[in-house]
Amino acid sequence: MAEDLNISKGSRAERYQELLPQLKALIADETNEVANLANISAALRQTFGFFWIGFYFVDSDTELVLGPFQGDIACTRITKGRGVCGTCWEKSETIIVPNVDEFSGHIACSAITKSEIVVPILKNNKVRLLLDVDSDSLDDFSEIDKHHLELLAQLISDSLCD
Ligand code: SME
Repeated sequence: MAEDLNISKGSRAERYQELLPQLKALIADETNEVANLANISAALRQTFGFFWIGFYFVDSDTELVLGPFQGDIACTRITKGRGVCGTCWEKSETIIVPNVDEFSGHIACSAITKSEIVVPILKNNKVRLLLDVDSDSLDDFSEIDKHHLELLAQLISDSLCD
């Protein structure tokens, strides 16, 4: 399937619209969460070329732990309320950071990251994991990314076991 991804070079919105049904199909017949998240990370990387894409799992009441990702080595654990990811978890809402240097408490896993979006993925009204996307360009994420990545979050949530 990965090599079947055939995404046009349209606008970012068009590419999301092509990609989302493909991701839905990609994970439809597989129940293993890690396998599905690994392929979703790869597909986002292939489609958009973002610098870092990955997932953090809620591992306890206070900590996130790194899940499948594409990109450079990243922080393994993040405390609730810390950094963009810990804040997204605490608030249970998507956070767009146009300039990471201006986000108080941003955790810099890489100096290359300039902007970031983090989307919570809920199951039964509780954050189960987060999708984190980092760009090497300033101000790279908009409401278009938020809208489509939240659709992806719902798709992932639907595929998770209770
Ligand atoms: N920048 C994130 C940490 C995770 S890395 O970007 C992969 C944060 O501030 O939570």
